[in-house]
This record gives sequence, structure tokens and C-alpha cells, in this order.
Amino acid sequence: MKVFKKIRDIQDYLQRQEEKKLNIGFVPTMGALHQGHLSLLEACKASCDIAVVSIFVNPTQFNDKNDLEKYPRTIEKDMTLLIGADCDVLFYPEAEEIYPPGEITRIYDLQSLENLFEGAYRPGHFQGVCQVVDRLFSIVQPHTVFFGQKDYQQCMVIKRLIATTPSFHSIEMTIVPTMREPDGLAMSSRNMRLSEEEKQVAPTIYQTLLFLKDAIEAGALTHIKKTATLRLSEKGFTVDYVGIADAYTLEPVDEWDGQKPLVALIAAFLGQVRLIDNLVIA
Ligand code: PAF
Repeated sequence: MKVFKKIRDIQDYLQRQEEKKLNIGFVPTMGALHQGHLSLLEACKASCDIAVVSIFVNPTQFNDKNDLEKYPRTIEKDMTLLIGADCDVLFYPEAEEIYPPGEITRIYDLQSLENLFEGAYRPGHFQGVCQVVDRLFSIVQPHTVFFGQKDYQQCMVIKRLIATTPSFHSIEMTIVPTMREPDGLAMSSRNMRLSEEEKQVAPTIYQTLLFLKDAIEAGALTHIKKTATLRLSEKGFTVDYVGIADAYTLEPVDEWDGQKPLVALIAAFLGQVRLIDNLVIA
């Protein structure tokens, strides 16, 4: 595996691969890698000639300083996992490389995605995600990019970034299904911060999503959302939201016509750790 820390070096290398007509797949990450990331890498390797993974804990997408400080950093282990999974290139830049002083930041027009669900609870988060992903796409210039469905709203934000940035129009995006522990807990780097007791309770989020999938029927959805929220609170979660939304636009749906594809989304704290998950329920 080739490891690059500097933009110039990775670009020199990738340009040589382009000249050989090899197509480049890209998996951006913040490290603390787990099986979920490896499934993105596997999908990337299956359809691209060169698999590039980036590891960069992006400060601009953390609205909570504490969350940024506590974000797990496990680079040695990450590198071992990437080598084991046959990753071709790791891009592991310093913050100054990604954000040179004086650089002007674009404001991204994310429309309602900016303020719904994650946007409402993490002000500025998606602007930060777009800022770093814009920068990384411009550096790597991938043919195909891979994102996890676990971050459903992020996937929609990235789709919009691609659609609204002419230089990204040729990029294809693949959304890879969420990887789960045997008990249903969605894999996440944040799971490392759960205590043993919290780990026992954490799968309630997935069980609650399954409950919503089972309970959904045409008509008002307020009642099942309330029941879901109550289930989580009773298990000790502090719930940010239990949402049911149009699976394509993410507009919240309170009254279902029995036809529209729906996604259920949950964000909740267990102790200090904020967990999110989602499920397409109709
Ligand atoms: O999903 C993530 O890990 C991050 O939001 C991403 C896409 C790598 C941008 O920092």
C-alpha cells in the first residue's frame, strides 16, 4: 500500500495511473476503521482498478468540540486493516494540507437537507462535510466514490454536492448498505466509546427501526413515532429525533399515503455517545 501525506505526491502518482487508463475508486473516511469501512473498500476494489482510502478527521464538520477531541484515532490499526484488505493507496494528510491558511470557503446550497434531522441537531455539520469532500474529490479526482448508507442524510448531501459542482458531474456514487453487528447495532467508529453496559442497550436503536417497519401503515404516523421515542427513552437513551421521511427528498412525512418510499431515522445519545441509524421501512 502506498501512503501519501502530501497533495502533490498523491496527485503525481494518480496521474500516472490515469495515463495507464486505470480507473480510480475513492473511499473517504475519518479513520477508526471497522468492518463497515472495509465493506466500502471491498465494493471499491470490486469495481475499480485503484482503491484510494483517505483518513482525515475533519475539524470543520464537528459542531461539538468535545466530540472532535474524543473521536477515536487509531492510525496504526487502520493501516494494518487497510493492508490486510489490499488497499492500494492511503491518503493521510495533515490539516494544513487540506485547509491552507487564507483559503476561501464555498457556501454550499443544500436546501432543506441543511436543516432537517442531522442538520437541525448539528448546525454547520454538512457544510463541513461538503467542504472536506469537495477538497478530497478535487485532489483524488475519482471515477467512483463509495459512501455508507449508515449516514443516509450525508449520502443525499454528497449526491447534491456532485450534482451542483460541474467538475464532479462525471463522478459515480455507490451507496453501500449498513454493516451491523450480529445483535443489529450499526457499525460505527463511535461504538468504541460505549461501555460494556451501553453496548448491551445500543441495539435497541435497530430494534426500534424494525418496530417502525413492522408498525407502519397508511395514515397518521405520529403515534408510532411517539411509541418508538418512548421505547428508547425507557432504555436510557436521550433521543434527538425519531423521524420518518420521504426516502428520496428526506422531507418529514406525518401522514403516509401507503405508497411513498419511506426511511426511518434515529439519533440518540447513550451516555456521552451519540448514535445514528436508519432503515428504509416502506
Ligand atoms: O462519513 C465520514 O466518515 C465523513 O463524514 C467523511 C465523508 C469522511 C468526511 O469527513
